[in-house]
Amino acid sequence: MPELKFDITRVRQDFPTLNQSINACPLVYLDSGATTQKPQCVIDTTAKFYTDENANVHRGRHTLSENATIQYENVRAQTATYFGVNSSEIVWTKGATEAINLVANGLRKQVTANDTIIITPIEHHANLVPWQVLAQQTGAKLAAMPLNKDGTFDTELCLKFIKKQKPAIVAISHASNALGNITDLPTIIECAKSLGAIVVVDGAQSAMHLKPNLKILDCDFYVFSAHKMIGPTGVGGLYGRYELLNALTPYQTGGEMIQTVTLYESVYRDAPAKFESGTPNIAGITAFGAALSYLSQFRHAEIFEHEQAVFNYAHSRLAKIDGIYLYSSVKNNIGTLCFNYKDEHPFDVATLLDGYGVAVRAGHHCTQPLMAHLGINGSVRASFAFYNNYSDVDKFIDALQACIAILD
Ligand code: ALA
Repeated sequence: MPELKFDITRVRQDFPTLNQSINACPLVYLDSGATTQKPQCVIDTTAKFYTDENANVHRGRHTLSENATIQYENVRAQTATYFGVNSSEIVWTKGATEAINLVANGLRKQVTANDTIIITPIEHHANLVPWQVLAQQTGAKLAAMPLNKDGTFDTELCLKFIKKQKPAIVAISHASNALGNITDLPTIIECAKSLGAIVVVDGAQSAMHLKPNLKILDCDFYVFSAHKMIGPTGVGGLYGRYELLNALTPYQTGGEMIQTVTLYESVYRDAPAKFESGTPNIAGITAFGAALSYLSQFRHAEIFEHEQAVFNYAHSRLAKIDGIYLYSSVKNNIGTLCFNYKDEHPFDVATLLDGYGVAVRAGHHCTQPLMAHLGINGSVRASFAFYNNYSDVDKFIDALQACIAILD
């Protein structure tokens, strides 16, 4: 096993939730694909905001409000730096799902019945249903990208498909939430954009593991959730190339997104303000700033290398167990193991694992089309983050062996 590059013991101490027992066993948290744990600084920043700093943003002339506004906008700038884009291109939402809905709704005046929207079978429901609704509203056609039997893309086939469909929009995940497989986005984006398509990337799973520079990736829109980046729940965002972002129609309207209002009509502000009506999750956004500061103490390559080392170890140990069917590829994976044991129901496996303190997700992972493609109803999913270590893998495999002894 390769030596770990950073002080994992200290890192684990920073995440209080990790240091507890569940069902009289030390917690082994392998559900970071659903939500990551939070470091103490994120928890403290939330408490400090409500204890000392609470005020609304962009509305007051008093000190607390002005400070809250500065903090709120600073985190926007921090987020923009994280993704290598401009502050004006980041819109706050309550998560990746709302961000995709914002784009799909915002495009409805631009999409016609002659247009094709490419979706893919790996998408989680949040990157499928909004496009289905847009297609129903506009008469546009939906076309699903070809996918290999094992849930990986054949990039050559994808390029052929894109050229044939000449899509107006391509909606695609950077990494599958169920399998963890990483999509070969640069090639797909280049091809789609050469045909004039708008490329919307679901980055919910990739934002922390891959830390993409979005200017280099060259997508048009990218969505993320703070809670999958060691930040709080209820916060996320949308990156949009400015001209395209500003051209979207806002789907929520109200206070703070307007320039002027008369009784019968209103003039909207430019992006990002025109998409941020109402009072935002100020405490959450402030705490997300603490999460990004925490992440910035590491070189991203170090985090990724560590995650890959732990994931590879877990993959090789799991693959050796008789009766395990492993659906995740080991190459190009953010660190997710999607598997079943014989024909046992994934809920049974997950419930038994919980008895040993191991937290995994089981079911269809909000990816019913992908599960149908793989010919299964659901699976067990163990998803890793940089705070996991080799000992987590050993405990997980020991617990799984114990579960298997019960099931067999
Ligand atoms: N949050 C969902 C997951 O667990 C989509 O992957």
